[in-house]
Amino acid sequence: MSFCNLLESWYLSVNRDLPWRKNKNPYSVWLSEIILQQTRVAQGTAYYHKFLENFPTVADLANADESLVLKLWQGLGYYSRARNLHYSAKLIMEEYNGEFPSTYIELMKLKGVGDYTASAIASICFNEQTAVVDGNVYRVLARYFGISTPINSTQGIKEFKQLAQSLLETDNPGQYNQAIMDFGALQCTPQNPDCDTCPLAGGCEALKKNSINQLPVKDKKIKIKKKYFNFIVLLTPNDKVILSKREGKGIWQNLYQFPLLESDNTLDLEALVERADFNELFEGDVHSIKLFNNKEWVHKLSHQHLHTQFWVVEAASGHSDLIPLESLSTYAVPRLVEKFIESFDFNKALEI
Ligand code: ADE
Repeated sequence: MSFCNLLESWYLSVNRDLPWRKNKNPYSVWLSEIILQQTRVAQGTAYYHKFLENFPTVADLANADESLVLKLWQGLGYYSRARNLHYSAKLIMEEYNGEFPSTYIELMKLKGVGDYTASAIASICFNEQTAVVDGNVYRVLARYFGISTPINSTQGIKEFKQLAQSLLETDNPGQYNQAIMDFGALQCTPQNPDCDTCPLAGGCEALKKNSINQLPVKDKKIKIKKKYFNFIVLLTPNDKVILSKREGKGIWQNLYQFPLLESDNTLDLEALVERADFNELFEGDVHSIKLFNNKEWVHKLSHQHLHTQFWVVEAASGHSDLIPLESLSTYAVPRLVEKFIESFDFNKALEI
């Protein structure tokens, strides 16, 4: 039996009794899916009933006071979900004459409806062949197929959606989608999954390799640090420029760069000329100072974003790292500095 058929027969054997499965009304399925993004089935069921009692149809929800919608949502948290429900109900009344959108593409246009909810409603209510991917699905697929691509990476999101879609070999996509959701919630649970009674155990890669507890993989969200870089391109009257070797560890170790002044924020001209580390680069008066890029260049590294400005300064200097401009291209520099060298017209600077 295929993966899809195995899950469907498991689903039919469990036959979970859930109120939103009693009919295929898109309004009530939508309500249930939005509520269940916020909480588990056990708590969500009471909210589902409460919403339907107060607002039996999408028209009732659209006509409601927002304060009542929020009140009924109380306890679930993340109130923007409730506001989006209300907003989208009004949109359905006004733009769709009260008729619920019936395709994945149209459903995606509703506020608060993303890929998961659109796929759920389109498949359950309108039999569209579109696979859901939620936390349960990530877990089941990662384990069964032994996939270690992080589920919160761009690559992972794409890979799992494509795989989920390719597995949808059934005339009843809504049933299959709910089967895999239930399977993740009841059988292939995050902790202590019941592998002994699992109908998929025979083909499960993670079980074979003893990696159930390592899958799925989730990237730790790294905090991106913002840094503010000011490169001083100091040109001397005898056509030299300061270029220094970077010492110490780091990704740019041993590469060459223009003098780099770091700041806590975007630096302006007044603040630059006040800095001692700027003034010690040259002798006598500055002939001119120009900011090369009015808009900061943001160089993105894995853990930091470098907000970078290049200041072109003409002044005499006795700095120990002066090199002739003509030899600039022979030095290894970071990509960011290279980009500047490519954009800045050094020939014109030589003519000054
Ligand atoms: N979790 C999210 N959607 C669900 C559904 N339709 N049935 C059960 N659990 C769910």
